Amino acid sequence: MHDFKFKSNDLYCENVKVSTIAKKVGTPCYIYSHNTLVDHLTKIQKAFSELNPIVCFAMKANDNLAVIQTLANHGAGFDIVSVGELKKTQLIKADPKKIVFASVGKTEEEIVTAIKADILFFNVESLPELDEINRIAKKMKTTPRVALRINPDVAAPTHAKITTGTLKNKFGIDLKTARQIMKNRKKYSNIKFSGLHVHIGSQITTKDPFVNAIKKVIEFINVLRQDGITLEYLDIGGGLGIIYKDEKPQTAKDFAKAILPYLEKTGLKIVMEPGRFIAGNAGIFVSEVLYLKDNGVKKFLIVDGGMNDLMRPSLYDAYHEIVPLHKNGAKKIKCDVVGPICESGDYFAKDRRLPLMKKGDFLAVMSAGAYGYVMSSNYNVRGRAPEVMVKGNKYEITKKRETFEDLLKGESIPSFLK
Ligand code: LLP
Repeated sequence: MHDFKFKSNDLYCENVKVSTIAKKVGTPCYIYSHNTLVDHLTKIQKAFSELNPIVCFAMKANDNLAVIQTLANHGAGFDIVSVGELKKTQLIKADPKKIVFASVGKTEEEIVTAIKADILFFNVESLPELDEINRIAKKMKTTPRVALRINPDVAAPTHAKITTGTLKNKFGIDLKTARQIMKNRKKYSNIKFSGLHVHIGSQITTKDPFVNAIKKVIEFINVLRQDGITLEYLDIGGGLGIIYKDEKPQTAKDFAKAILPYLEKTGLKIVMEPGRFIAGNAGIFVSEVLYLKDNGVKKFLIVDGGMNDLMRPSLYDAYHEIVPLHKNGAKKIKCDVVGPICESGDYFAKDRRLPLMKKGDFLAVMSAGAYGYVMSSNYNVRGRAPEVMVKGNKYEITKKRETFEDLLKGESIPSFLK
């Protein structure tokens, strides 16, 4: 469910006509629905209510302050992967006791800042990282909490670039090493081993990979129990898939039904890290048509947004639905929807049947709320698009369009070239 709907031929976000926003803030732009964000978060919270898990939004999916403030207001914590993300959570005064920190390459600065913030725990991804946290914590005379991120060696049927749970991926610690670490836990005098973490990949639409991973983790928890080790938390990661085209992903309820019995058996406090499930369908990317080009072989609908704004189609061959903001009943044509960037990979859709559009018409690339703006860049010296949040019949820019001056910030010509 999302709050981008057509009302008599015009696309609305909640109660605001999307073309009104496009005209006011200019294109390209990102638009987020407050109501949809809250609805998706609530669906997960409700589905798992009997375990009362800490739902830590994976803010790598969308770190806009308005988005994270909305989710924090409704009880979410955050799964972070950098000191930058941590500082953003501090800006909105998020509860550090609901923050978990993954990342295979945490720097000393990041570890120190997170220890000072007293986050819930670090999700530790390797033995050397554990040594480093222990060393830093000793210097700081403290004992941070840690969850070992287990690599369960479970393949998830998703795009190769977003699968993480096999030993061919850089993530997590293999079970043998993890067991050894736990057996040697006394060696880490400045670590409190609080739990285990598992995350097998993203955009997973079936329950089986999750069930398989959780079963493996439970087996491992039992092995640890035999070794005399007890834990407090199990962090089951994120990865729940959403509908981009015709996927039939499990609902939050189905997902809960499949895994709740296993989670209950552990007796541990549960942490979850959904990103895309909450934000994916809560955002769209809006562009204006510049030209329609026909080279005799193909038609190209050239728009003012590019792969620098939304790179999922070019990076993952990802499908995103495209709709005109105004349905005018025009006949459909088959075309590629492309941006102005100097690369053939700069497209939002290939061979898509869309109503004929002309210069000045607007279109929306749907399901762009997760891994959209956050992965954008200044490629081709293009300022990043603004982000707008809609709530009911109100809307406001939550991040301005980058200006040329913004892009030049910190850049200068070395004196030896002058
Ligand atoms: N937890 C960890 C440790 C993760 O690495 C991720 C995503 C998540 C949670 C959230 O996963 P989600 O619920 O959003 O599937 N840029 C790619 C997706 C990369 C996912 C990275 N990790 C894309 O656009 O599809």
